[in-house]
Amino acid sequence: MFKAVLFDLDGVITDTAEYHFLAWEKLAKTIGITIDRKFNENLKGVSREESLRRILAHGGREHEFTPEAFAELAKRKNDHYVEMIQAVSPQDVYPGILNLLQALRQNGIKIALASASKNGPFLLNQMQLTDYFDAIADPAKVAASKPAPDIFLAAAAGVGVDIEAAIGIEDAYSGIEAIKAAKALPIGVGSPDVLGHDIAIVADTSELTLSFLEKVWQDKKEEKDER
Ligand code: BG6
Ligand code: MG
Repeated sequence: MFKAVLFDLDGVITDTAEYHFLAWEKLAKTIGITIDRKFNENLKGVSREESLRRILAHGGREHEFTPEAFAELAKRKNDHYVEMIQAVSPQDVYPGILNLLQALRQNGIKIALASASKNGPFLLNQMQLTDYFDAIADPAKVAASKPAPDIFLAAAAGVGVDIEAAIGIEDAYSGIEAIKAAKALPIGVGSPDVLGHDIAIVADTSELTLSFLEKVWQDKKEEKDER
């Protein structure tokens, strides 16, 4: 059976993916760039700096900002975002997540955070979930961000579990790519049209029960054994 579950945060544990979008939308507007939810799919899971690069390219303004101006824009987006997440509370934890964390703990399965967000520790604290996590991978310390495998490898290492004995849960295409590259078993939250038709996907986090995870793991094992 699997020995660890590596969680993305934004869009998996709570609805902060929406706040990231709203904060970027607000920032982009001040420099005359419009983004919509479809474009936002390209930003999910992606680091703050890379998100800004993509937004500037989207608006055809990627060469217009000095490194200082770029950093100032990134900071302003984060200021908007930090303001929005002050009110996040335990009530904002997505359905099924607390039950899953409790079941994993009771069964001795390690729990780690593999979020690209530097606001992850603050948010876990706001939701009173910090104590469930055996490790929080630090996105500031990994060389490459999602879709590179680094943050998932760091999360597995943080709990001392072989990456191939871990499940990764993600709502972003770049995140699923990262889990695959790391060689953990991916489970997607969202739609197959965005995340791919080749992996286990739930439409809603309430479907993320321990028995569902065990079934996905078992199915994958049988598939491997057949080969
Ligand atoms: C990811 C989000 O979890 O974290 C991205 O999906 C975000 O949208 C990234 O850009 C970085 O977050 P932060 O809070 O460090 O700017
Ligand atoms: Mg996410």
